[in-house]
Amino acid sequence: MDIRQYFAQKFHTTPALVARAPGRLEFIGNHLDYNGGPVIGAAIDRYVTAAISPRDDAKILLASDARETIAEVALADIAPLTGDAMWANYVLGVFKVLRDAGLRAERGFNIALVSDLPIGAGLSSSAAIELAAAYAIARLHNFPLDPRSAAIHGRAAENTFVGMPCGILDQGTSAFGKAGSLVLIDCAENTFSTCPMPGGARFWVFNTRKKHALIDGLYAERNRECREAFAMLAAATPGLRNLASATREQVAAAEAALGVARHKRALHVVDETGRVHATLAALKTGDLAAVGRALNASHNSSRLLFENSCDELDHLAAHLAKTPGVYGARLTGGGFGGAVMALTDESFDSRSAEQVAAAYAEKFGDSPSVFHAITGDGATLL
Ligand code: GLA
Repeated sequence: MDIRQYFAQKFHTTPALVARAPGRLEFIGNHLDYNGGPVIGAAIDRYVTAAISPRDDAKILLASDARETIAEVALADIAPLTGDAMWANYVLGVFKVLRDAGLRAERGFNIALVSDLPIGAGLSSSAAIELAAAYAIARLHNFPLDPRSAAIHGRAAENTFVGMPCGILDQGTSAFGKAGSLVLIDCAENTFSTCPMPGGARFWVFNTRKKHALIDGLYAERNRECREAFAMLAAATPGLRNLASATREQVAAAEAALGVARHKRALHVVDETGRVHATLAALKTGDLAAVGRALNASHNSSRLLFENSCDELDHLAAHLAKTPGVYGARLTGGGFGGAVMALTDESFDSRSAEQVAAAYAEKFGDSPSVFHAITGDGATLL
């Protein structure tokens, strides 16, 4: 839907400005972001677009093409909404975080969002909302915002307002994405860079549309297990900066103290960090077979050690890994349902994807939604 048309329809006025931000793929670096590790993402060319206009009163009105009703809050009373209006929390959270950072707003605004990003497909529509809203709100109020602070504020909104203890992968990738490129994030320093996507490589996404009922709680539980594992390792290893920089030897030495679950989580984090470095080295030499092996190994580690996979994701990853034209495949994002991403060569086409989907349907009774993802550009004012 055209954003200006939608805005006019909802608010009977024209927007002052428009911003947009892309969804993302998690390429590799599963659950490393909040552990201070390195991660690699890719922005995709599907976007959330936000249009905004000032109001004369002290209200914020929020519309989304994914919802019928307009949410309304008072400027003086910004608190998380519940029920059907919960989607608006990604926008309100960003507004609150920007205001805490010094943005001054005497009057309210109208903001409308349209999206061509599949929602709930593990492509991080929430971060795209946060980044599009951050650019729109900041610009409307003449508040300076660069991609790095946009990513940091977006993550803060999610952590403190939405209540999801995520790292910076999604927001950082949405902020720094570049068509034809991957985004590299050092999550200990919050530094961001890009590297070219290898020529001839393609992304395919298979969304199971399954979502564990306790998905948010499970994500938070993994986060907690990792924090506990780090605290235990740090006690034994003075100077250890974060879980991602621990060594296998340090984890092995602490095995008994950690207990089974924390030991497995720590091993995943340490090994996955090694796989990100191996992937970066293989990308430099164009060794896509080695990249693919790292992707497959990452999935297996999610399955066995981090235990954030499920039968549907395992089936897709295993099937794809042995399909001609596929370099490697792994769950992408938080896990516990969601999507598998495959890195393929150009011989893998929609017919190949349909065959993978058909084999899945035979086993699980319904088809995954299939999406050929193309890299896109990062968040920007339009
Ligand atoms: C979700 C979170 C990210 C990251 C991934 C797992 O996408 O939002 O911060 O932790 O899961 O790597």
